[in-house]
Amino acid sequence: MAKIRCVGVLTSGGDAPGMNAAIRSVTRSAIFNGLKVKGIYRGYEGLMNGEVKTFTTEDVSNIIQTGGTILRTARSKDFQTPEGRKRAYDTLKKEGIDALIVIGGNGSLTGAMKLAEEYDFPCIGLPGTIDNDLYGTDNTIGYDTTLNTIMDCIDKIRDTANSHERIFFIEVMGRDAGFLAQNSAIACGAEAAIIPEDSTGSDQLIEFMSRGIRKSKKSCIVVVSESPKCGAMYYAERVKKEYPQFDVRVSILGHLQRGGIPSARDRILASRVGVGAITALIQGQRNVMVGIRNNEVVYVPLIEAVAKNKPIDLQLIKVLDELSI
Ligand code: F6P
Repeated sequence: MAKIRCVGVLTSGGDAPGMNAAIRSVTRSAIFNGLKVKGIYRGYEGLMNGEVKTFTTEDVSNIIQTGGTILRTARSKDFQTPEGRKRAYDTLKKEGIDALIVIGGNGSLTGAMKLAEEYDFPCIGLPGTIDNDLYGTDNTIGYDTTLNTIMDCIDKIRDTANSHERIFFIEVMGRDAGFLAQNSAIACGAEAAIIPEDSTGSDQLIEFMSRGIRKSKKSCIVVVSESPKCGAMYYAERVKKEYPQFDVRVSILGHLQRGGIPSARDRILASRVGVGAITALIQGQRNVMVGIRNNEVVYVPLIEAVAKNKPIDLQLIKVLDELSI
């Protein structure tokens, strides 16, 4: 197995608070262990176009506390083609990079896996997404911060919802996963959450309305996981038609959910998995995602991390149901 002397690091897909802490961790741990580090800008786009810079420890000073990603990010269509990946591989060779560390979500780690398979190139994934939808790690980088951001927003909306005695449908991100919706609903004492994992053919709105909204309640918050067809707007329109006695409003939180100062949990998670990535490479591990399960650093084959389904704990649905009476 070829010795690793130089690692490249990039962020890809949707940015997530804590990505900078991960870049810092990878860079400093690599240098600590005698390796060279190169930062790759704008994700796979920058990798294909040769946007590469040698990093020193100073390049990652004072970033642990900042949101976004200093390396910038992109969702690259070209990298999804064999020609695109060939260009990316050519840059890696030209720059003398022996291993690539990719910080991103499902699509980004799938890209890393393909590059690894096609060119027998060592790739390590770090779970960076607010959606928390990667298998094999309890949490992903950015999820905790976003959950707290959503909680702050919903607490504020509750003030106005109470004052006007309204039903609010609040749409949160998560792509196809309901972790953000379900857990923010519990954290805010919401009356219901509508999540993709619970859509077993039943009509979640009718179920919720038929349970009845207690007369003494001044307001009602329903957290809805984003969905192209059945988002917060869809449910609000239906309530307006089917239950016209209620005063309904919608709030779509949007991209503010991805910004902000990373929480302590995200900074620590990012720092631990960053060190874990360098340790993995030194130990000869290849093509794994570094995660944390039950407070232990774990190495999950990339194929499992991206292809296996991460189920939501059904107990969380029961908790919300029981507490929202
Ligand atoms: O995957 C992270 C995420 O924020 C999802 O929750 C959301 O569906 C998507 O990215 C939004 O992507 P974009 O910033 O490209 O609109």
